[in-house]
Amino acid sequence: MQSAPPHPPGLHAGLIMDGNGRWAMARGRPREWGHRAGARAVRPVVEAAPDLGIGVLTLYAFSSDNWRRPRREVDSLMSLFRRYLRSETGALAEKDVRLQILGRRDRLAPTLLQTIERSEAATAGGRRLLLRLAVDYSAREALTAAARLCNTTGAGREKLADALGTVVHGGGPAIDVDLLVRTGGEQRLSDFLLWECAYAELFFTPRMWPDFTPADLAMAVRTFHGRQRRFGNVAEAV
Ligand code: FPP
Repeated sequence: MQSAPPHPPGLHAGLIMDGNGRWAMARGRPREWGHRAGARAVRPVVEAAPDLGIGVLTLYAFSSDNWRRPRREVDSLMSLFRRYLRSETGALAEKDVRLQILGRRDRLAPTLLQTIERSEAATAGGRRLLLRLAVDYSAREALTAAARLCNTTGAGREKLADALGTVVHGGGPAIDVDLLVRTGGEQRLSDFLLWECAYAELFFTPRMWPDFTPADLAMAVRTFHGRQRRFGNVAEAV
């Protein structure tokens, strides 16, 4: 397997984009309407990310458990992903953004798969931001697959991190998350980047995803910079 090019410098921010359904229902509209509004909220956040010092942005778009949702909602999400990729690829390439899809591909429709492959190829040269969309993603499943790939009882942390990188994004070690943001008021990880979030700073906001703006992301980044990260060590003397 080819090794992945190095990712842009800067923070790795993970975003759990929660609250589309409740946002829509609060307005008397179907959940799909909320997802469409959620898709519109993505672009400004992606555009703002590099100037906030973010080099890798991973968006949780569809978990493997989301297949359990009603067919109509799943179909609408899949078609939103396809449309997003088709409409945004040119602009992403122009803005020097590399797009990568994480997660299982074998359960995606051939048309979506083809669109994904085209978008990834068209943006492969992007060096300003690595934008990763997690679709049909499960951290537990990725870890299980990585352990299987190691296939040795003595495999250490680094080997597993490499195997996880291979499983999740086709090469290079897993990328540790610095800042994990979840919108929508819930405070949990929901099977997102469990290994990579080992030392992530967590930021939860009650704001529903369709209302999330670059200013909210900027606030999360400011909060991050105000935290003291110790990685298991003791606090530095002041
Ligand atoms: C969680 O909200 C959100 C999802 C399962 C889908 C996320 C999708 C988008 C933000 C739109 C499309 C994205 C792209 C990249 C084009 P929820 O439905 O669980 O909301 P709820 O908790 O209020 O029910």
